[in-house]
Formats: sequence, C-alpha cells, structure tokens
Amino acid sequence: MKIKFIPAKDAVEAGRLGADIFTQTMEENPACVFGLATGSTPLSLYSELVLRYSQGKLDFSLVRTVNLDEYIGLPADHPQSYHQFMYDHLFSKINIHPRNTHLPNGMADDLESACWEYEKMIESMGGIDLQLLGIGLNGHIGFNEPSDYFPKYTHVVDLTESTREANKRFFTDIREVPTQAITMGIGTIMSARKILLLCTGQKKAEILHEAMFGKVRPQVPASILQFHPKVIVIGDEEALSVIRRDHPDFL
Ligand code: F6R
Repeated sequence: MKIKFIPAKDAVEAGRLGADIFTQTMEENPACVFGLATGSTPLSLYSELVLRYSQGKLDFSLVRTVNLDEYIGLPADHPQSYHQFMYDHLFSKINIHPRNTHLPNGMADDLESACWEYEKMIESMGGIDLQLLGIGLNGHIGFNEPSDYFPKYTHVVDLTESTREANKRFFTDIREVPTQAITMGIGTIMSARKILLLCTGQKKAEILHEAMFGKVRPQVPASILQFHPKVIVIGDEEALSVIRRDHPDFL
C-alpha cells in the first residue's frame, strides 16, 4: 500500500494532526498500546495530547506504552534519560498508570536478557497498535543506525558519532553523551499495526525523501518503512519540500 503523506504548515500543526491519529486509536481501543519516541520532533504532539487530556477529551487510564529506546548507563532519574524525558513531557501530565509505561532498562546488569525481556513483554501486550517515529539525519529509526543489515529484535547498539553529535544539545558536553543504547529492532518496529512518522524542519527534507522514495536498504534504516502496509507520514512544509519538488503527486 502507498505511504500516506499528510502535509502540515509547521511543527505545531504536525503535532495536532499526529494527536488526531492518537485520539482515533484510543477511540477504537481505550486499552491500546502506543509505541513512543523521544527527541524534539514529538514534543508538539505530546503537548497537544496533554492539552486534550486537560480539556477532558482524552482518558489514558487504560492506555499502555512502550518506548523505542533508552541510553545505556543513565539511571531512570538522570535528567537526560528517556525515562525522565517521557515523565517530564507526557507521563506526569496525563492519567496514565506508571505500571502501564515501559522503556528499555539501560541500567540492567545483563543487557542481552533485558533486550529479550523487552521484546517478550511487547509480544505479551499483544503488540503495538500505533508506533510513533522520528527520523535521524542519517535515516535512523529508534537507534537503528545505518548498517549492512536490518536488526530484527530489541538490541544493544553503538551510537554513531553523528547521532551523538546531534544529541549533544541535551548535554553539557559531547563526552557526557552515552556511546550505547538499547533500541527496538527494525523487526519490532515493523510489527506495529500502524506507524506514524513525524518529520519537521528543512534539515530532514533530503533524508525523508531518500527514505520514502529511495532504494530500501539498511544503510538508510527508515527506508524499510516502504514495506510496511500502514505508514502515515506527517511532515511540515520544510521537511516535505524535497518530496513536494520530486514527487508532487504524493502530496
Ligand atoms: C527517539 C528516537 C530517535 C529520534 C530521532 C530524531 O526515541 O528513537 O530515532 O526519533 O533521532 O530525533 P529528533 O526528533 O530530536 O530530531
């Protein structure tokens, strides 16, 4: 099936349109499983979900969540951990039960077992109804970095210098940015029943175009989404600019 592109004016509108898809998923199943992402891109969507919750339009009491990834070596209460990010931007502001929220354990003694347990847990929840994704400048999804194969399951990954560089804005020094993370695998992500890729900003325009219309290859991990039956891409004008130029019929 063709990837569905939804153009938005800017990041705020992209968040609102993304929140519509979350809302619809919750209406269909109040106990749905959301796969969640961190980073800058989902912030407008999370703000919109918080707003709708505060207006009494959304009830998260039965919703369950699993996050894409977490750094290795940062405790859950570290200000830059993804546990803390999710708490600050979403979980502390809605009526989701903490026991229904899940992130990989980057502090586990046995990281391999932690990855496998995470994979099994997602399976036991019945899989992911809607997976939210951002895209890295190098085409990564989750922390599945460019590689010569598509990793299937949740695994430990070495972060590339470009990803550490991109994420150093959240730390005081690049040396503080962890060198490894746990991430859902490409297979884990592709098992989600629906995928919502949010993309904003001019600097993502080229990679978004390549991922959606280029050759499907592990050197551009997001290109695998072309093989998923239900992908929605919400992009702002800047992020969709190259697609609009080269494939205007898709927008
Ligand atoms: C975050 C994640 C990453 C980000 C990507 C884009 O949980 O898995 O793949 O989605 O690095 O990050 P931003 O949105 O900060 O540009």
